[in-house]
Amino acid sequence: MTDTDTKNIEALPRGEALLHDPLLNKGTAFTLAERRALGLEGLLPPHIHRLEEQVARVMDNYRNKQTDLERYIHLVSLQDRNETLFYRVVVDHIEEMMPIIYTPTVGQACQQWGHLFRRPRGLYVSWEDRGRVEAVLRNWRLPDVRVIVVTDGERILGLGDQGVGGMGIPVGKLSLYTACAGIDPSRTLPVMLDVGTENEGYLRDPLYMGLRQKRIRGAPYDAFVAEFVEAVKRVFPRALLQFEDFGNQNAFRLLEQWRERVCTFNDDIQGTAAVTLAGLYTALRLTGKSLREQRVLFLGAGEAGIGIGDLIVSAMVDEGATLEEARRNCCFVDSHGLVVKSRTGLAEHKLRFAHDLPPAPGFQAALEAIRPTAIVGVSTVPRSFDQRVIETMSRMNERPIVFALSNPTSKSECTAEEAYRWSGGKAIFASGSPFPPCHLDGKTFVSGQGNNSYIFPGVGLGVVACQARLVTDRMFAAAARTLASLVLPSDLELGRIYPSLTRIREVSAHIGAAVAEVAFQDGLAGVPRPADPLAMVQAEMWHPAYRTYA
Ligand code: NAI
Repeated sequence: MTDTDTKNIEALPRGEALLHDPLLNKGTAFTLAERRALGLEGLLPPHIHRLEEQVARVMDNYRNKQTDLERYIHLVSLQDRNETLFYRVVVDHIEEMMPIIYTPTVGQACQQWGHLFRRPRGLYVSWEDRGRVEAVLRNWRLPDVRVIVVTDGERILGLGDQGVGGMGIPVGKLSLYTACAGIDPSRTLPVMLDVGTENEGYLRDPLYMGLRQKRIRGAPYDAFVAEFVEAVKRVFPRALLQFEDFGNQNAFRLLEQWRERVCTFNDDIQGTAAVTLAGLYTALRLTGKSLREQRVLFLGAGEAGIGIGDLIVSAMVDEGATLEEARRNCCFVDSHGLVVKSRTGLAEHKLRFAHDLPPAPGFQAALEAIRPTAIVGVSTVPRSFDQRVIETMSRMNERPIVFALSNPTSKSECTAEEAYRWSGGKAIFASGSPFPPCHLDGKTFVSGQGNNSYIFPGVGLGVVACQARLVTDRMFAAAARTLASLVLPSDLELGRIYPSLTRIREVSAHIGAAVAEVAFQDGLAGVPRPADPLAMVQAEMWHPAYRTYA
């Protein structure tokens, strides 16, 4: 769509109904001709504002809010009234807004969902709907859905089981699909699969809005998810289905079950992997080393950690390493210490990284045994990269690579300031949630946000644009290489290993083109390869500008 699009007036609702449709509403920006033709006279104050003036009013109010949670509520309320204005505000202030509409503030919103609730958004599909899930999906009023983000709320950011409050995450992620990659908001659908919660606090809270029961598990759970996925295939056959923030005992299994059968991926496993691999590629530009020379020690062996490990291994294999060599270069510490062969009862997803090494009880012991070049925190354990860890890394490496990826900020393994201070400014640092720039010995360090929001919007855009049948690891590897290639020397000078967020739409377009290119090469695209895949992807992008109604 372009800014000059017009919409046929005959097809629009009129009067109040139009003002209450957030996809069509323009508020005070309706022109006089539109007001007359659409029964809006008298329903709006007389002065006609331009979009830029409306943005100024929103920002004025926004800046008067006292807390991030109030800013969040202000923005989602705007989204419920006028999506064009909401996205214009977010796109124009992306660095400022991202921590509000996504991590860390969205985490607070999930925790208080039942208390903040104003209007529903998306679809709540509950265990009580089993057997009738297709009918529930058919209640969605917009037929041409292209991207669905679904969660069951079990592992929200690093905050654990949020039950139905987990809905904040699909809503937030889809806002990023639109803001960062121009996915048309009318083609997005957030879904909450409510199968209960283990969170006793919510079960006791009279304002909790989900099912008041313990989680459904095992075969009945799998059958319910299968009913949902099959219903999606029938009702929204062109949709990409992104699984988000499921507990890791389900996430790996569901990914394996569905990845070859429907157009789906798990962002915690695959998206995180790509953003981390991209960060590693960029860090190597600073250290001058190759990927094959890296030894990576992970704190946390869950969805994010194992997903990253798998993608690093396949990238090392691409560089000529054997599978065994590559896997030996990735070691994991979980809540029971170093993951080694002699341990019993290891979860299936950890087995391929259980090496023949002596046990080590904790991270520091593992660090000294493995002597890694990079440490990656995906553990949800705050402050676990303490002064001793960072100092040890700095003794072992000229430029230690330190990624503290746990979200939200309160769960980060260390802060940016700590990483730079304890390493004497040598660390190459990235975090999952943003940290402000910090100053050390007269130098300013701007750390990168190793957040998968650099990856999934562009991947989704590429998949939608070429109508890919499946989402593959080769697409994520291409996304990682593309993201790394877009980091400028000026970013590196500041210490930032990801491009500035202000370039996110350009970044997403390039990632989208790279993903589509893989789909064309691998015979997975639903459209013929155009002469210029980048132009194809850019033409798919929605821009937050008002259409003329005539
Ligand atoms: P998960 O629940 O699958 O895995 C957590 C892992 O941490 C498990 O292996 C667990 O054994 C380990 N762990 C827990 N306590 C520990 C302790 N005391 N010592 C050592 N290990 C411990 O969760 P997932 O999906 O892997 O996410 C982990 C974190 O990574 C979360 O905070 C999440 O928000 C963050 N994350 C960040 C992303 C980003 O874009 N930066 C994307 C995805 C996840």
